[in-house]
Amino acid sequence: MTVQRRTFIAAAALALAGTTFPALAAKPLVMGFSQVGAESEWRTANTVSVKDAAKKAGVNLKFADAQQRQENQVKAIRSFIAQKVDVIAFSPVVESGWDTVLREAKAANIPVILTDRDVNVADKSLYVTLIGSDFVEEGRRAGRWLNEFVKKQPGKTFNVVELQGTVGSAPAIDRKAGFDEVTKGNAQLKLLRTQTAEFTRAKGKEVMEAFLKAHGKTINVLFAHNDDMAIGAIQAIEEAGLKPGKDIVIVSIDGVRGAFEAMIQGKLNVSVECNPLLGPLLMQTAKDVKAGKQVPKRLVVEERVFPAEVALKEFPNRKY
Ligand code: AHR
Repeated sequence: MTVQRRTFIAAAALALAGTTFPALAAKPLVMGFSQVGAESEWRTANTVSVKDAAKKAGVNLKFADAQQRQENQVKAIRSFIAQKVDVIAFSPVVESGWDTVLREAKAANIPVILTDRDVNVADKSLYVTLIGSDFVEEGRRAGRWLNEFVKKQPGKTFNVVELQGTVGSAPAIDRKAGFDEVTKGNAQLKLLRTQTAEFTRAKGKEVMEAFLKAHGKTINVLFAHNDDMAIGAIQAIEEAGLKPGKDIVIVSIDGVRGAFEAMIQGKLNVSVECNPLLGPLLMQTAKDVKAGKQVPKRLVVEERVFPAEVALKEFPNRKY
C-alpha cells in the first residue's frame, strides 16, 4: 500500500469517528486588514465588527492599525503581500495615492477588497469590490433634513458652519458634495465657515471654539461630517454659554450611541446613519472571491436618518 493511500484511509477513519485530520482539514482563509485608526466611535464599532466576524467565519485575520496615516497603510499592505495572505482588505484613510501598492498586490495575485472608503485609481481592476455606505447620499440626507427644518421659519436666514472630516478622505469629500448639492439653492442658508476637524472629538471642540470666537452668536447651524466632531463641538458651545440643539441647530452623521445620548438630552438635532457593521459581509465576500465567485463591484449597506424626536424610542435598538 502506498503512503498516500495509507494516509487517505487513516483520514477517512478519523473523519468517520468525527475527528478532523489536521493535514487534510480545510486551511482557514488568511486576510490582511489595514484599519484607518481609532479616531471615532464609528471606527471602534467597525473594528469590533471586523474582528468578531473573522472569528465567527473562521478567518485568520492579520489586523494592522494605521493610526490615520497612509504610509502606515502602504507598509501594512506590503507586509501582507510578503506574507502571501489570501485576501487584503482595507479602509483607505484618503482617496488618492494607491496605484503603486495596489499594482503590487495585483502582480502577487492577491485580491483586494475595499471596505468603508473608496480609492481614486484609474484602473478599477486593482480592487475587486467596495463594501460600504453611500457617503454622497448621507450628505444629501443631512442637507435635506436642514432644508425641511429652515422651511418652518420662512424669511429667516441661517448662518451655517461646517466641520469636515479628514482632508482627502472619501467621506469628507462625498458628504460635502452631497450636502452642497441639495442646499446650494436654498436662499435661507449661508455658509460662514468650513474647516476640517479630522473626524475627532478633540479637534471638533477646538475648531468649534475658533468658529465661536470669530462669529459668536451669529452661528445658527452646525453641520458636522461625523458625530464625534459634533460631540466635541457641543462641549465648546456649552462652554461658550450657548445651548447646543437650540441656539445652534446641529446636524451630524454616523448614528453612534454618543449621538443618541446627545439627541435624548436635546443637544443634537439629527444624526444620519452610517453603518459600521461591515464585518460579516466582508468575510462572506472574501470567501466568495477566494472561491472564484463573481461579486458586485459595489456593495452598499442600508442606512436611515434619526431625528432627535425618535432617539429615545430607537436607543435600545442601537448596536453601536
Ligand atoms: O469612513 C467612515 C467615517 O470615518 C465615519 O463617519 C467617521 O466617524 C469615521 O471616522
